[in-house]
Amino acid sequence: MDEKKVELLKDGKRISGRAFDELREVKIKLGVLDEADGSSYIEWGNNKVIVGVYGPKEVIPRHMENPSKAILKCNYSMVTFCSKEEHGKMGPNRRSVELSKVIREALEGIVETNLFPRTQIEIYMVVLEADAGTRIASFLGAVAALLDAGIPIKDIAVGIAAGKVGGKVVVDLDKDEDNFGEADFPVALTRTGDILLLQMDGKLTKEEVEEALGLIFEKSEVLLSKLREAVEEKYSKEVVKELKFSNKIIK
Ligand code: CDP
Repeated sequence: MDEKKVELLKDGKRISGRAFDELREVKIKLGVLDEADGSSYIEWGNNKVIVGVYGPKEVIPRHMENPSKAILKCNYSMVTFCSKEEHGKMGPNRRSVELSKVIREALEGIVETNLFPRTQIEIYMVVLEADAGTRIASFLGAVAALLDAGIPIKDIAVGIAAGKVGGKVVVDLDKDEDNFGEADFPVALTRTGDILLLQMDGKLTKEEVEEALGLIFEKSEVLLSKLREAVEEKYSKEVVKELKFSNKIIK
């Protein structure tokens, strides 16, 4: 057990200089892969993630077909050089299998799979650089790439984490805060406030969970704006209108 004590707050600010409710900078770009049906590149603080969406297409192997809907195949992976930590060999591991699963389950809550029976939609998320929060950055990148692919979704959704560092509830933990803080609480939610993913590492009281969720809802609007800007940049204001793209989270 690592007993190392790290001061995560100084003069009422986080060591990065961010306020408790301040997100790291987020940039989203659509259409970064020529061969994919939809793609995105996302920088979120020091995280860098690229996402490719392929399909709807024939299901392989055939026996996995679902006669009433498309199946989603999600693959989250990290490149071996994405952080200073040792990653060993490339290829799936316990964590990447878990993250692929929770992201798939979250996306199943929004993709209109019923429109594409007997097909599969593949979503590959590759973390090029990691600095905590890669599952939510990958989820956000996946939503962006699905929009780019023109795959209908029931509601726009974003991923965002809150947590606790130095006794304070804060939004969007970076690596030091994730390593030495008291709790990390990643969530994915739709614009209408449905929770698609919710995990917690560490401990929060009931009041802290409520405070964290409050921050998550409030700051999700920043991410919705970033998504809208990315769609507007590649397509047009009309497409944004068609997608009923509002920044307001409806609770
Ligand atoms: O990335 P996320 O916060 O969603 O997941 P995590 O399992 O809580 O990992 C936190 C961070 O630890 C990652 O974002 C990476 O910066 C780092 N990490 C890593 O570099 N290599 C791993 N095999 C696992 C985690």
